[in-house]
Amino acid sequence: MADIAEECAVTDSKPISTIVIIIAMRSEALPLVNTFKLLEDTDSLFPVGVPWVRYHGMYKDLKINIIWPGKDRTLGVDSVGTISASLVTYASVLALKPDLIINTGTAGGFKAKGADIGDVYIVSEVAFHDRRIPIPIFDQYGIGFRKSFATPNLVTNLNLKVDKLSTGDSLEMSPVEKESIENNDAAIKDMEGAAIAYVADILSVPIIFIKAVTDIVDGGKPTAEEFLNNLAAVTATLQQKVTQVVEFINGRCLEDL
Ligand code: ADE
Repeated sequence: MADIAEECAVTDSKPISTIVIIIAMRSEALPLVNTFKLLEDTDSLFPVGVPWVRYHGMYKDLKINIIWPGKDRTLGVDSVGTISASLVTYASVLALKPDLIINTGTAGGFKAKGADIGDVYIVSEVAFHDRRIPIPIFDQYGIGFRKSFATPNLVTNLNLKVDKLSTGDSLEMSPVEKESIENNDAAIKDMEGAAIAYVADILSVPIIFIKAVTDIVDGGKPTAEEFLNNLAAVTATLQQKVTQVVEFINGRCLEDL
């Protein structure tokens, strides 16, 4: 670790110490919880009664926190989507003061933009595709375009695809949303990324996204079916890639990613 820290591009900067990894689905989170041998919080940082779950522990020189928004208290399904993701990110950043946020999980991919099942992307830019406000400047606020923290060394080292992500609160895509996603020039779509980016931005925490493709949105198969069929295999791929990313981050400064 000392060797890498000495190579920090900015002399007075320190190696990354605390990371928060936001993951919307339990099945996406658990393989990583096992890899890093994390433990579920017994004394929650979060308000009494919320379903949010933190798994935490040391992995090499990193304090790792995997945060899962938990199950909907009434329906018992994973609390996917922008609202839960924003709330849990806000509470996690306030409580843990991370050096870096990672949002990882599955995404739909567009074959027209070169996406294939199992591809893993580092996201360069995020935007929303379901917030339409046709009034000058509010239109841009709705789209909510944001850049991720740039990680050129990580991308080269791990040979990852890099492209844009578009976020909306639906697994499906209406024709109007399709047009918005095309305007956002996105290769992948998810249900949390741009919302988490918003919270990271207002709290001034660097954020990166690692997303793996479970379904091809413009491929003609029903999205929900394709997503469920590929979820387990793609989650295993994602586990390997996120582990490699964490290994790469360990001992490095932000500027050197
Ligand atoms: N996550 C996985 N596939 C998705 C899709 N098609 N849309 C939104 N989020 C997803």
